[in-house]
Amino acid sequence: MDYRVADLSLAEFGRKEITLAEQEMPGLMAMRAEYGASKPLTGARIAGSIHMTVQTAVLIETLTALGAEVRWASCNIFSTQDHAAAAVVVGKDGTPDDPQGVPVFAWKGETLPEYWECTAEIFNWGEQLPNMILDDGGDATLLVHKGVEYEKAGAVPQPGPDDPEELGVILAQLKKSISSGTSRWVEIGSAIMGVTEETTTGVHRLYEMAREGSLLFPAISVNDAVTKSKFDNKYGCRHSLIDGINRATDVLIGGKVAVVCGYGDVGKGCAESLRGQGARVIITEIDPICALQAAMDGYQVTTLEDVLSYGDIFVTTTGCRDVISADQMSRMKHQAIVGNIGHFDNEIDMAGLAKIAGIVKDEIKPQVHEWTFEAGTDRAHSIIILSEGRLLNLGNATGHPSFVMSNSFTNQVLAQIELYTKPEDYPTDVYTLPKALDEKVARLHLDALGVKLTELTPTQAAYLGVPVEGPYKPELYRY
Ligand code: NAI
Repeated sequence: MDYRVADLSLAEFGRKEITLAEQEMPGLMAMRAEYGASKPLTGARIAGSIHMTVQTAVLIETLTALGAEVRWASCNIFSTQDHAAAAVVVGKDGTPDDPQGVPVFAWKGETLPEYWECTAEIFNWGEQLPNMILDDGGDATLLVHKGVEYEKAGAVPQPGPDDPEELGVILAQLKKSISSGTSRWVEIGSAIMGVTEETTTGVHRLYEMAREGSLLFPAISVNDAVTKSKFDNKYGCRHSLIDGINRATDVLIGGKVAVVCGYGDVGKGCAESLRGQGARVIITEIDPICALQAAMDGYQVTTLEDVLSYGDIFVTTTGCRDVISADQMSRMKHQAIVGNIGHFDNEIDMAGLAKIAGIVKDEIKPQVHEWTFEAGTDRAHSIIILSEGRLLNLGNATGHPSFVMSNSFTNQVLAQIELYTKPEDYPTDVYTLPKALDEKVARLHLDALGVKLTELTPTQAAYLGVPVEGPYKPELYRY
């Protein structure tokens, strides 16, 4: 069995945490109970790319319990929990000397070239080909699309002088995999029956490809299930944002001015958690609807420029680029904390920061760096950057807790089953899961919280014009 993880001796610790997580993931355990015997994913060879955490371990082992074969990488260089990765490789019945689980290619603190090597590894099935992708942020999907494009063209282009550094890394990886034949991208592109995408940013990329006509296979946006984005993005971040800030800095949040850029699902959860700690929260937004929501929720809404000089904590939650510039960071107050919880590291201009004359970067501990402007002068002042601008809840803490991830990952499992078992229902395009399945995911999580649901009478159902057993809301309903 091939794999690349930090240390297999961590497997026992990982297994203990996976066992605890299973209890907190009733949706995934219900999937095992419902489909464990019929194994609808038999024959599915899933190339998976999601943060390699304890919760993802429960997802992986649910997919294999349903018959799938899986190869896995993390979708972020800092997000792997090494004990979870080890436990998945060793498997329930294996030992570190005799691993019998699933091939994982992930460890905390990968370099960018290592990250793209690991992503390429999930497509390397030897004689066989993968036929499904499970993605978070769209990097695995991107690699296949670029691989197909360049293999067909017969050449991988050189990155231009203005291209981001990461593009050069991707192109180098593709060149290597095409010339060595370890990844047959054109064949892989044709073999893939579909991708299920976890997050807002990945879905954004999928819709773009569908619009351009370049999407190679059907996709289900798991993110757009209500039981995903209105729970994971909001309540998950409400939990894990301050977990990350606390573990990184242990600064008292109460009384501080916390600036949250973006008031979408993630921003709403982040703002609520910071307010819960007693921070005075200020929102920046570009969308008048979200800005109005923030105002009506009681937050001050203004521009970043207005708050630069007195904000203590800045968090980007936008999925947009260049939200905080290097120049703006240079004008923040001494030891302001700056972090990002959106999917990619381009929300904060880290490249621009490194180029500022006289700046000095000092590692306080891994994923916590003090950047000092005008170092060595009497004007020296610094900011603290979390996770080098990458998502801080996974880099500085352990991401979302199991219960909320059970909602997201139950949607992932249902979406994999949909695309794999009903290909005729999904010609190449981007889809969302039917509302009945969304309601099913929510239902699976009620008992664990002691929720008693009221049932419609047939007369009430007829009055509302909905079936007694649901679905209850029209597609346009926004929750
Ligand atoms: P969303 O689209 O609901 O919210 C983003 C908000 O940012 C929107 O309201 C938008 O108007 C606003 N925005 C865009 N550009 C802006 C700018 N320049 N300044 C201020 N506001 C701006 O998206 P959602 O679901 O909240 O996701 C945001 C990001 O977080 C995405 O990249 C997503 O993939 C990621 N994400 C991260 C998670 C984590 O655990 N770290 C969990 C879920 C999502």
